[in-house]
Amino acid sequence: MSDKVIDFKKSKEKLMNKKFPNVKPIITEGRQPLYVESNKALDKFQTILFDYQEYLMGNSDKKEITLEEVMYHFNNYFNAVYKELTKFDDSRIPKFKEAFDYAVLSNGKRIRPFLMLVTYNFCEGEDFLLIAPLMVAMELIHTFSLVHDDLPCMDNDELRRGKPTVWKKYGEDIAVLVGDALYMEATRILMDMVLEFLYTEIGNYVATSAAVMLRLAGLDGMISGQVFDVMNTTNNNLTIDDLFFMYERKTNALLTASMVVGANMSSLYNSKIATLEKLGYCLGESYQIKDDLLEIEQTTEQIGKSVDSDKKNHKVTYVSKVGVKESKNRLDYLFKTSLDLVDSMTSDKNEKEALVFKELIKYLMVREK
Ligand code: IPE
Ligand code: IPE
Ligand code: MG
Ligand code: MG
Repeated sequence: MSDKVIDFKKSKEKLMNKKFPNVKPIITEGRQPLYVESNKALDKFQTILFDYQEYLMGNSDKKEITLEEVMYHFNNYFNAVYKELTKFDDSRIPKFKEAFDYAVLSNGKRIRPFLMLVTYNFCEGEDFLLIAPLMVAMELIHTFSLVHDDLPCMDNDELRRGKPTVWKKYGEDIAVLVGDALYMEATRILMDMVLEFLYTEIGNYVATSAAVMLRLAGLDGMISGQVFDVMNTTNNNLTIDDLFFMYERKTNALLTASMVVGANMSSLYNSKIATLEKLGYCLGESYQIKDDLLEIEQTTEQIGKSVDSDKKNHKVTYVSKVGVKESKNRLDYLFKTSLDLVDSMTSDKNEKEALVFKELIKYLMVREK
């Protein structure tokens, strides 16, 4: 260990006196390809999104477009950005990069990044490339949580998105490291973005977005939910309030963060963030109830993950606690409340975008996988 003692006071003085060079060119150069390759995929996605909006508005010139088609093109755009942002020299560990890509590029629904973009669009944000790194960071954090969630020491699941889980295919050691790398890369992407926009007029929006995302992923969010989950898996004394606490953390937190970041990056809808947080609560709770219902009502082939997971782990869920009928009533209530919340934020400036938002909410509630 070095015996050098860091003199923080002196360092701080030095920093205060220093004129910072503009860091922008260094980072932008490294990310230059983002604006070439991803742009092509973005063009296609943006065209279909805008056509979809017109179609939803009842513009008869537009042929029928489904949300699934829009999401398909979104996925292509997302994948292009992901590839640009996670390039590194993997010549000595190619198998690891393969496992890392396997975790991210399998057939996930990409709900969180899509929700971020739809919210940004709803909040009159116009430059979709501006939120691209934030979308990727969000999906990497989500993927990290799933890779670890499936480990034998947690839910012990062997199937995810219709394929063997990362630990099943590459081993537990690699799966733990893939999770670690996903999380650290997400943080690295966020920091790169903060640096890129430091000293620009949107620098503070980027920094606050990164902070919100990390806070809601950590002890104040998703991780606490997972901790509460693993510590109470078979606890039959769990109350409904306990379950709501758990869902609020393990599921709502990242969905809420996605929307808050989308709104924050547009900078125009900051007064609506409290409403979006309420919406995040409704969407997260319904998303998790729906997830637990799917395990009961669908087949393993349909949902691409084991339908016996909760049963095998003797898991207490909202559905096991109140029954299927009551769970569906709750879903109906959450659905109506969510649509009302969107309406309360809609004006003639974002009515087209609101229609997309509502279609996405519907999809989340009626999804079959
Ligand atoms: C699964 O999340 C875990 C929950 C919080 C319910 P998703 O349903 O978003 O999983 P993927 O990413 O589409 O596989
Ligand atoms: C996973 O919850 C939620 C997170 C990883 C944050 P579950 O364990 O209920 O989700 P699935 O059924 O494995 O996707
Ligand atoms: Mg779990
Ligand atoms: Mg699980």
